[in-house]
Amino acid sequence: MSIQVNEEHQLFLLTTKNMCYGIGVDNKGQLLHTHWGEKVKIEDCIHLLQPYYHSHFDAEVDREREEYSPWGGLSFTEPALKVKFHDGVRDLKLQYKSYSLHVSDDMLDEGSILEIHLQDAYYSLDVNLTYKVIAEFDLIERKASLTNKGTEPIQLEIAQSAVWSIPALEAYRMVYVTGKWQEEFQIKSCMLTEGKKVIESRRGITSHHANPWFAVDNGAANETSGAVWFGSLAWSGNWKITAEKTAFGNVRIVGGINDFDFEWSLKAGETFETPAFIGGYTAEGFGGMSRRLHGYQLKYIMPSSKQTTYRKILYNSWEATEFNVSVREQTFLAQKAAEIGVELFVIDDGWFGKRNHDKAGLGDWYVNTEKFPNGLGELIERINTLGMDFGLWVEPEMVNPDSELYRSHPDWIYHFPNRESSLARNQLVLNLSKPEVKTFILDFMTKLLQENNIKFIKWDMNRAISEPGGLHDPAPEQREFWVRHVLHLYEIWDELRTCFPDVTFETCSSGGGRVDFGMLRYADQAWVSDNTDAFDRLKIQEGFSYTYSAQSMMCWVTDSPGHANHRSVSLKYRFHSAMMGSLGIGGDLNKWTDSELIEAKELVALYKELRPMIQQGKQYRLHSPRTEPTTAVQYVNDDGSESVIFVFLHSQQFGNFMPRLRLNGLQSDQIYQVELAEPFTMSGSGLMSIGIPIALGGDFDSVLIRVRVVG
Ligand code: GLA
Repeated sequence: MSIQVNEEHQLFLLTTKNMCYGIGVDNKGQLLHTHWGEKVKIEDCIHLLQPYYHSHFDAEVDREREEYSPWGGLSFTEPALKVKFHDGVRDLKLQYKSYSLHVSDDMLDEGSILEIHLQDAYYSLDVNLTYKVIAEFDLIERKASLTNKGTEPIQLEIAQSAVWSIPALEAYRMVYVTGKWQEEFQIKSCMLTEGKKVIESRRGITSHHANPWFAVDNGAANETSGAVWFGSLAWSGNWKITAEKTAFGNVRIVGGINDFDFEWSLKAGETFETPAFIGGYTAEGFGGMSRRLHGYQLKYIMPSSKQTTYRKILYNSWEATEFNVSVREQTFLAQKAAEIGVELFVIDDGWFGKRNHDKAGLGDWYVNTEKFPNGLGELIERINTLGMDFGLWVEPEMVNPDSELYRSHPDWIYHFPNRESSLARNQLVLNLSKPEVKTFILDFMTKLLQENNIKFIKWDMNRAISEPGGLHDPAPEQREFWVRHVLHLYEIWDELRTCFPDVTFETCSSGGGRVDFGMLRYADQAWVSDNTDAFDRLKIQEGFSYTYSAQSMMCWVTDSPGHANHRSVSLKYRFHSAMMGSLGIGGDLNKWTDSELIEAKELVALYKELRPMIQQGKQYRLHSPRTEPTTAVQYVNDDGSESVIFVFLHSQQFGNFMPRLRLNGLQSDQIYQVELAEPFTMSGSGLMSIGIPIALGGDFDSVLIRVRVVG
């Protein structure tokens, strides 16, 4: 039974495989959080609904445990909801009304959705809280729907997705990622003390600078053990996650669409639905957290048409040719790519309009006939004849001032009157909240996909949104642009996915600037970073893997020395680093030697063999590049009978002891063959408790180890 209700005491308990999540209604009609963590009985929560008075300054401390805290009355913590009614009243008093249970379309479990209905005590504002129980992954998907049942508009000033109350711990450590362009997904942590820690984006995209998820533990959890509470927000625009520790030791995480520069006019009869915030608990440390999120992503988030397929090995010619694309050059590259086993050939920027550099052409989405005199069809045919699919890059939300689109629609960009709109990478952002801009994008994308045999789209977004205004829009509603931009983007992707189910979509924003569970409902994969340095990537990929699956993590093998920091590493090392996600190749194959091409061909063939395990198996981070001289990541198939491990050495120091590599996720009592230069056998329990010696030496060495049950 995944949802239990105790009518007498007005308690609710959501139960997953290894977790319970409880809420209840107190005697003032307020919805309070009761429990989140190990399994308990519903009756255990009865005593958790008591009022708590400290002083007349803190007369209702129990409200620090509110499940969806409105701003109003004696509540002083970070609110989930703040509104202004038509008569100027800004005080909100939410009262519990009722609940309902539903069965979700994608779940077999009876009653797997709980809805709690709240109402303001006087005004016609309904708040519905939805809890979808994802039992097998110990997750709960939460969101809030706000409906104006009255006749006058209500201004929403803060409308968060959820409040997560963390149970009492001896200490609180928050783990999250920060970064920047070419250095995304860097794992960070801090202890939470009284006050607030905020991570957010105000850039209109998810951003390179932080990613909308959090984890909290007591400071002692590690990769394999320890209690971890975590959450991931499915939103690709401005977002905010606030961790607050109060003077009474309560820790709450409030998250959703950023309230910075946010306002939404909720007209009579309208509903505003917040993005989903997925929360979970595990006692199996950060590795347990990641495997739950990966499983959830593959089964529930990923577009259904792609759930059972593997990502193709792609070649992308961007780093080889940049804007200088031509049929001749691309054909040469395509021939080489096909020879080494590539399955999808992608032309990046430069194929359209007057796009010979980044100063012109964005917005003019027709084929550049100087570069492709016979249209794209000629090249696509050649690529198909070589046995590969064809893919294309687009950046639909953008325009260069030097473009036909801008000259004919200068009012389509975000701008404030009497202000210049800031250029970034010589481009401006189209105001996608406008219906005509949405139609323009949907139309040209539909035409492109209808007229050409395109099987892959890389959708880029190469700058943040700034000056989010519009010349002809009434001032208050301009604050809605942040949200409307994202909603229209989702609608476009949704429509394209429905019309072109065979096309694979990649989300890119100058690398990993727009990766989140909102975008990944439509995108099959994500470009993780423009930094393709195989060593730098280890940390970037580790951070990505905390939340997102290897299948959605697009990694390219590029040239050495690399453009990011001119480091030289072997082709083998570069392949091993990129094989840990969905493999791509992005180097200039015309410059690769014959022996490099032969080695690449062998590694591509090996990747195809290992792909099911890497892309859809279980992932274990064995050694971290942040804390150890070696990095090791292991992938295990469904029943634990087969595994592959990628191990990297940064630099050897004489005399330094190299620890044995202890594996994970295997069957203890089975005997495994360990395929190293000198193969040997060992039991699963031996491999997991004694481990394999690491035979790496020098600088930037790597090895791929396969382990399989014998006979
Ligand atoms: C961004 C992307 C790159 C490439 C260029 C093309 O930087 O992240 O991979 O597509 O745009 O302009």
